[in-house]
Amino acid sequence: MKIVISLGGSVIVPDEINKKFLERFAKLARELHKKHQIAIVTGGGRTARKYIEPAREFGASEVFCDLIGISATRLNARLLSAAIGPEANMEPPKDHLDALKALDFEKIAVMGGTEPGHSTDAVAALFAEYMRADLFINVSDVDGIYDKDPRKNKDAKRQEKMQVDDLVDMIKNKSVGAGKYELIDILAVKVIQRSKIKTIFLSEDLDNMKNAIEGKKFVGTLIESGE
Ligand code: UTP
Repeated sequence: MKIVISLGGSVIVPDEINKKFLERFAKLARELHKKHQIAIVTGGGRTARKYIEPAREFGASEVFCDLIGISATRLNARLLSAAIGPEANMEPPKDHLDALKALDFEKIAVMGGTEPGHSTDAVAALFAEYMRADLFINVSDVDGIYDKDPRKNKDAKRQEKMQVDDLVDMIKNKSVGAGKYELIDILAVKVIQRSKIKTIFLSEDLDNMKNAIEGKKFVGTLIESGE
């Protein structure tokens, strides 16, 4: 299978760098790489926001703040590459065509952001199009998509399945400010929608992720594109 994983910054740098998680995730990536083609796009997490917030206060434009965010995502890509070792590319590719070369060399492709105006989720969704991926996995610190914000509402319910059109409706008015994307960005969802990419949202629980990849029962949300 061809698998693209959007690894949210919230699981790489929730506050400090989650070294234990990176070690375990790198091990799983190496294991999956034996059977599957794997691409991983890393988010910026707390590091991105730590730098974007003061830059915005200094008066930097949103596009400038995006560039700062991209640097953070690429820093995380390097860190993940270090954790994976020689099976991954060392230098985060600047664009998708470069990233495809890593796959040609039978590496696990690891990259961060590309250009301003979107988040790494959009980079990952586009990568899934480039690769004609069988599966797109969005990993964050929340175990799926809820009917309302689970951090604010105790009675929020996780959706086992969701139509992609409903996901578009859910997020179309959300922020696209630098460092302020919630859940996923609209460009990513539009790409998933237009190419009917099989997409799942799940948490950093790696046994659960493995189950999802192996087609077993998993905790998360499956996005349906309809036929
Ligand atoms: P993230 O992808 O981590 O965004 O990139 P995020 O805001 O934390 O959203 P989630 O966690 O993916 O939902 C960090 C920031 O880097 C910039 C954006 O400002 C983004 O918020 N960025 C990232 C870009 O401008 N272009 C990219 O290709 C990637």
